[in-house]
Amino acid sequence: MKIVLQADKIGKNFGGLRALDNIDLKIHEGEIVALIGPNGAGKTTLFNCITGMHEPTDGKVNVFPPGQSKTCVNGFKPNKITELGLARTFQNIRLFNKMTVLENVMVGCHCRNSNTFLEAIVRGPRFKREEKQTLENSQYLLETFGLIDFAHHLAENLPYANQRRLEIARALATDPFLLLLDEPAAGMNPNETNALDQLILKIRNEKKISILLIEHDMKLVMRISDRIFVMNQGKNIADGSPQEIRNNETVIHAYLGTE
Ligand SMILES: Nc1ncnc2c1ncn2[C@@H]1O[C@H](COP(=O)(O)OP(=O)(O)O)[C@@H](O)[C@H]1O
Ligand SMILES: [Mg+2]
Repeated sequence: MKIVLQADKIGKNFGGLRALDNIDLKIHEGEIVALIGPNGAGKTTLFNCITGMHEPTDGKVNVFPPGQSKTCVNGFKPNKITELGLARTFQNIRLFNKMTVLENVMVGCHCRNSNTFLEAIVRGPRFKREEKQTLENSQYLLETFGLIDFAHHLAENLPYANQRRLEIARALATDPFLLLLDEPAAGMNPNETNALDQLILKIRNEKKISILLIEHDMKLVMRISDRIFVMNQGKNIADGSPQEIRNNETVIHAYLGTE
């Protein structure tokens, strides 16, 4: 199967703290991989190293955008990595609060537009065509996410679960081949979480996007993951199917047993 992400021997130091140590992670096309582990294990730091928020101290992050050759993204800025086709959400929601729901998604789409600054100012034909396309794509995403009725509400006025969904919609608007979700079900009730796992499966099945998700809700993780990658204290301690991870003594000891 085609590989879309290959992180080799990633290390990350914060002063004297070794937050990541020798992490090898591969993700295949269309795969849903859950990244689990106790708080402080280094999960978000690994996301940050993959998406350009941090540069790894050691190792290489390689991505394989469709139709392009292998690209090492170490040292690339986050916006450049988004353009290559990696999109993410954040553990602490980061929406444009004072913009509408629709505008939040349109901002995501804009990273795919080819207008120059001049064309935007003179509002030439290409600008108008792309704006129309952006609007249609954004409305389609809002419909998929059950958010179309709130299109003109300010993002900050949405209930919490819908803010989380909107963040995923905005990430998808950038047309990624790999979507990284940092605790997407955090703060959701069981009904909202069930709806979320249907949505994640739908995204993968319809768009063939690969998904890497950090999640503490083990029911969600066991239901939707093809593979689970377990971290503890900056290290990878197990990597396998949900069934293998459920029965792995080291994992039970480090993590599952404490739940
Ligand atoms: N920007 C930072 N500066 C210093 N230490 C950090 C920074 N980000 C994370 N850490 C530390 O790295 C470790 C891993 O954190 P994090 O990746 O957020 O864990 P997780 O997401 O698994 O809960 C923690 O000890 C955390 O305090
Ligand atoms: Mg985290």
